[in-house]
Amino acid sequence: MAQFTGEQATLYNDRITHLVPGYELLHQLTNAQLQATLNDNAHILVVGAGTGKEILALAAINASWKFTAQDTSPDMLAIAQAQFEQQGISDRVTLHAGSLDQLSLQADAALCLLVMHFVEDNGDKKQLLKSIKSNIKKQAHVYICDLMKEETLFEREAQINTCAKLGLSEAGQVNMAQNFKSEFYPLDRMRFSELLSECKFSMPKLYFKALGFSGYVI
Ligand SMILES: C[S@@+](CC[C@H](N)C(=O)[O-])C[C@H]1O[C@@H](n2cnc3c(N)ncnc32)[C@H](O)[C@@H]1O
Repeated sequence: MAQFTGEQATLYNDRITHLVPGYELLHQLTNAQLQATLNDNAHILVVGAGTGKEILALAAINASWKFTAQDTSPDMLAIAQAQFEQQGISDRVTLHAGSLDQLSLQADAALCLLVMHFVEDNGDKKQLLKSIKSNIKKQAHVYICDLMKEETLFEREAQINTCAKLGLSEAGQVNMAQNFKSEFYPLDRMRFSELLSECKFSMPKLYFKALGFSGYVI
């Protein structure tokens, strides 16, 4: 599984836009919905906050919003923290390097973008969803984007072709083909809805689709 440590962390910001078609658009669409639904002084939980992409943009949208940045990789969060300091927003962000189970928040919204596809469907995905549920208010929306199970035989190849156009090297394309088999635990829509229902979430609504990547608001 991807560890997001060392070089994987330091090179993340340069690489991710070659690896996820529509990466910027996914974030723009997610942020626009938060802007449309949240009031001043909202508290946003960002699960798998990585290098801080979500928080850096959201902090600029509303100066009163506060954030919890959770991630299992201290290396990713260290990069995020440096960026928060640079942007002068570190007093609005609580960092948590470790499991989400250790938190007890009442957040107004939660984001989990490009994270849960790395978590196995052996009880771990369900535990992650339960932990998100227990850290948000009753009416809070959750935004989840994952690589889903392929729906056509040519979808993954098309994704690699798209990433090549976005600047992914030949070696990167070979890695991507391998990673599709070994790094991800993609769900189909039925199983995703079933897990959400088991965790007392409502029906997911699709708001982003780029080949295998689907973004849902719940
Ligand atoms: C592809 S990055 C996405 C980062 C950020 N959300 C973005 O959109 O750029 C995936 C992140 O999820 C983190 N991660 C993986 N498994 C996790 C888990 N079970 N709980 C929280 N974070 C996790 C990784 O450490 C990594 O920082």
